[in-house]
Amino acid sequence: KSAQNGSLLVQQMRLEKERQKNSAKPWKIEAGTTLGSIMGVKEISEDEIPDETEEEADWRKKSQFGSLIKSTARTDMSADASFARIQDQRKSLPIFNERDALLRIINDNQVTIIVGETGSGKTTQITQYLLETGHGQFGIIGCTQPRRVAAVSVARRVADERRCELGSEVGYAIRFEDQTSKDTKIKYMTEGVLLRETLTDSLLNKYSVIMMDEAHERSVNTDVLFGLMRRILPKRRDLKFIVTSATMNADRFSQFFGNAPIYTIPGRTFPVDIFHTKQNVPDYVAAASLEAVRIHYNAGEENGDILVFLPGQEDIICCCDDIRKKLEQQPQEKKRDMLILPIYSLLPSEQQARIFDPAPLRKCIVATNIAETSLTVDGIKYVVDAGFCKLKVYNPRIGMDTLQVTPISKANALQRSGRAGRTGPGQCFRLYTEHTFECDLLENTVPEVQRTNLGHIVLLLKSLGISDILSFDFMDPPPSDNIINSLHQLWMMQALDNDGNLTKLGRKMVEFPLDPPLSKMICFSEELGCGSEIVTIVSMLSVPTVFYRPKDKEEEADTAREKFFTDKSDHLTLLTVYEEWMKHRCSRDWCNKNYIHFKAMERVKDIRSQLVEICQQAKVRLKSCHEDYPLIRKCICASYFVQAARMKGFNEYINIRTGVPCFVHPTSALNGLESMSDYLVYHELVLTSKEFMQCVTPVDGAWLAELGPMFFGIKESYDVRKKRRLEGKEDPTELPPPRSLEGTEPVGNMWSR
Ligand code: CDP
Ligand code: MG
Repeated sequence: KSAQNGSLLVQQMRLEKERQKNSAKPWKIEAGTTLGSIMGVKEISEDEIPDETEEEADWRKKSQFGSLIKSTARTDMSADASFARIQDQRKSLPIFNERDALLRIINDNQVTIIVGETGSGKTTQITQYLLETGHGQFGIIGCTQPRRVAAVSVARRVADERRCELGSEVGYAIRFEDQTSKDTKIKYMTEGVLLRETLTDSLLNKYSVIMMDEAHERSVNTDVLFGLMRRILPKRRDLKFIVTSATMNADRFSQFFGNAPIYTIPGRTFPVDIFHTKQNVPDYVAAASLEAVRIHYNAGEENGDILVFLPGQEDIICCCDDIRKKLEQQPQEKKRDMLILPIYSLLPSEQQARIFDPAPLRKCIVATNIAETSLTVDGIKYVVDAGFCKLKVYNPRIGMDTLQVTPISKANALQRSGRAGRTGPGQCFRLYTEHTFECDLLENTVPEVQRTNLGHIVLLLKSLGISDILSFDFMDPPPSDNIINSLHQLWMMQALDNDGNLTKLGRKMVEFPLDPPLSKMICFSEELGCGSEIVTIVSMLSVPTVFYRPKDKEEEADTAREKFFTDKSDHLTLLTVYEEWMKHRCSRDWCNKNYIHFKAMERVKDIRSQLVEICQQAKVRLKSCHEDYPLIRKCICASYFVQAARMKGFNEYINIRTGVPCFVHPTSALNGLESMSDYLVYHELVLTSKEFMQCVTPVDGAWLAELGPMFFGIKESYDVRKKRRLEGKEDPTELPPPRSLEGTEPVGNMWSR
């Protein structure tokens, strides 16, 4: 049996390779395709197929049957059949009957708000309707998405529907990844991308239509774009602006845009029975997996897929494992398989696409709130809702944003349960009590702009010439403390001057699609002459992680990682990984051997070349300092001096500014070393059992005073002062008692040596 599996695997890899070659047209398997016909595809020579990486193998094992039914080459006949089927599907969407009325209202108004149930066809169809009626003639039809995943998957789908290559007529752009060309007429992009485009094209002249999709998500970027659109629209009377939303908030959008008309696409939903638990569950992962398995067995032969909502990636992976284990534990005669498909934003997009593939057995999709409105999977009949999501929240205690698991809002809960009633009556199992729903959940989630750091937004608005951020047209203005705090941080980074205007440095920083500390690091590196190395480090920080730590091989992976440790700094370790990879000519084998994600490294390389290009445009000269590690550490210190910590005990630090205790992350190069550094800076804090600093670099205390003089000063030691006073003028008997070395409070713009 295993031999058979082995050969299937090789086949699968070949298919996959073939598919990747033609990735512009991802094929879907047709109903009725047999395994034999899958295997009858054109042969590719063995050596064209790269070895399966650990990551791929791991994922394949986890996804059980996924690999066998993923995709196949198509013959021309099935291509036509598939195209015809897609066209039929388009016609069956609720929005299809509204096409003419919708186009009329868009033609008659500059701004239109469109509301419709998820899955009615807003995202995929409206852009095409507009293209079909000539709106693409004089400009691009742009459609923004709050999430990268949605932008990519929707663009892929629409390219399929139009039978064109992704990146030609239909394309997408997300940060560091532009899949558009001069032929692109329909462009899906993240809101962040459009926001950055306003920097170079302040009236968005290349667009004839802007559709802001999923506006109810109210990300910071949505709100800022809203404010900017209010300024742009009167100056661009020819520009059509469409806001689409799931059922919430439409009135507020309309009011904000001068009572723009609201068009509601009649829903076609089926009743959903909602069940609450009698008590709130102590462990929602365990409860969710139990519930999924129970549903699977209760439903028996009946069709109907399951969608489980959990807050984040770790929970999802854990829950998938749990479900798999529970299925395996069933007695042989009762065994019934189920396809378990995780989905979260960091999952590689090929793997994300699999939730849409038809499957011969029940699917159980375990998702973050990405599946709430952004992605629609047909055939969901059961929803399991854990009641939590991850939100970015500004944490005043530590002075920065953290991702926190937070109860969802009522609006979220309703949206989630609605997912079960798209194709027929469904059931929703909430893992919380009715009382919790009624009394504890907020009506709507607090908009992101009111709960996060606005550093990069402030910088962007400033460079658009909007000097008074406090009076910017926000639909829901952020608390002024938030804005002032962000202004303050930018001032400390010397991106703003004392009058709150952009400095030369600030102007350069805006050019980079990065958070202020990282763009500052690049700009400052010019002064120190270590730009080449810094750009590498920043690129490495722009991907989730390059280190691969498979289950049951943790030790080997850790040993492999430790080999790269450089100068006790995690940032320098990242640099070393990249440089070693370059020395090994970007080899995939080398990555596999060293427990490094090959794909992540390729992405880093790509990001790096884009950053280098931006540096050229922004006239930031990049020099290499050739392993002058202290110099690089100093440059890192310059950008993170706000996030600095002082040693308190073994592995234990306190944040110099806030006094909050924090710990070196167990994966750090600095962890557990005998000679730890007195001072360090960190990239971010993660809150788990403790406050862990992730990605740390030891720095010299004097650098902090030199680079962040508004914060830190060096107090002279008692002996030094005594000596000086004895030598000279001052009376030593008047010396105050000895004190510790560094200031932890702002000391103004002065410090003494
Ligand atoms: O935007 P809205 O939620 O109104 O719907 P949509 O995303 O345009 O989806 C319309 C239909 O296209 C859904 O029924 C999905 O099944 C299908 N679709 C798909 O098959 N694959 C995608 N990547 C996106 C949508
Ligand atoms: Mg949509």
